[in-house]
Amino acid sequence: MSGKVLKFPEGFLWGSATSAYQVEGGIENNNWWAWAYKKEPVSILGREISLVKAGKACDHYNLYEKDFDLAKSLFQNAHRFSIEWARIEPEEGKFNIEALEHYRSVIRSLKERQIIPFVTLHHFTNPVWFHKKGNWLKPDSIESFGRYVEFIAKNLGEEAEFWMTVNEPELYASWYPPLQGAYKGSRLPDPIDALRVINNLIQAHKKAYGILHRFGGKNIKVGVAKNNFCFDGYPDIFAKIASWFWNREFLNRIKNHQDFIGLNYYFHNRFKISPIRSPKKWFNQNENKETTDMGWEIYPEGIYYVLRELKRYNLPVYITENGLADKGDQKREKFIRDHLFWIKKAIDDGVDVRGYFYWSLMDNFEWDKGFDPRFGLLEMDYKTMQRKIRPSANFYADICKNNQIIID
Ligand code: BGC
Repeated sequence: MSGKVLKFPEGFLWGSATSAYQVEGGIENNNWWAWAYKKEPVSILGREISLVKAGKACDHYNLYEKDFDLAKSLFQNAHRFSIEWARIEPEEGKFNIEALEHYRSVIRSLKERQIIPFVTLHHFTNPVWFHKKGNWLKPDSIESFGRYVEFIAKNLGEEAEFWMTVNEPELYASWYPPLQGAYKGSRLPDPIDALRVINNLIQAHKKAYGILHRFGGKNIKVGVAKNNFCFDGYPDIFAKIASWFWNREFLNRIKNHQDFIGLNYYFHNRFKISPIRSPKKWFNQNENKETTDMGWEIYPEGIYYVLRELKRYNLPVYITENGLADKGDQKREKFIRDHLFWIKKAIDDGVDVRGYFYWSLMDNFEWDKGFDPRFGLLEMDYKTMQRKIRPSANFYADICKNNQIIID
């Protein structure tokens, strides 16, 4: 085969990611389910949406072994998934042992296949009881989350080495106030609420970090999954402020409470602020003209800048999510290869990147967009629950197997 070979560091982890509510099915006691159940239209940042129920999703709760066999056959050696808090603690202070044992089996079945588990404790959803108490807006959310984490850490803390407390805190906090409004009646997005949520998530992360280190195995490593954007454009000061606030503020505030950084990269945000442009054109102009099925700009180079920005923390970095919705599977191979090209460049420039998790192992429930967007390496037939390996999954499997990419 012709082309230039770019080798990744020895021991590099290759995998894919999922989250509980998006793939498991059968979860009927978290806040997302409650909103969808009420079938009320919700306004997220001024956009009216109707929430869809995840229902059976991919039935991964029952089919996880089959899915891990597929991941293994695709040469993946790591897998990121999340534990559903609402399953573990369906009522405040009452823990479900069956659910706990389920997740123990999930972790063990990954390890039996020599796939390293990366466990996330909070991926966007909360138990209904927690939500009704005022959830992340209330300071006692920190205690509640801590109690759940302690239960998990005492029981599963020795089973896995890599743990992530919360997924994408800023994104969660910016979605969160309007969604909360949907549950309570009408309420406008409130930036002060979002800041309160972030602040509580920071405290909750720190607490969870201590708990996991106290009760987990001695090699345990704890981090967060951060959704960082590549900001640029003019005036430069806006990009700088946005980068500081969105990409770094959370990490700065948990500085001594993280063993690695999980990076989720999807977005390029270009500022073009000028009095002669319409304000509508101040943000997010796609000059590449290449987009995913979600309309998101494809900007592989951005991951390089975002990784360079993380160098200052001097910590191992795992790309815990990166992927695209591409129903026809036309763009996925190039997307993966191009992002890996820029990741390799960041590694060559001294960023300690140790793994890559494509989002997602399989098509799944994409929150307010329902089941239409197709992010999966595996194509889902939701009627029959059949999984089909997409051509791009085989392309990615070669990369995982050989620990290298080949560029033209
Ligand atoms: C989230 C996933 C989501 C993906 C694609 C990430 O921000 O963690 O839950 O499915 O983006 O939108």
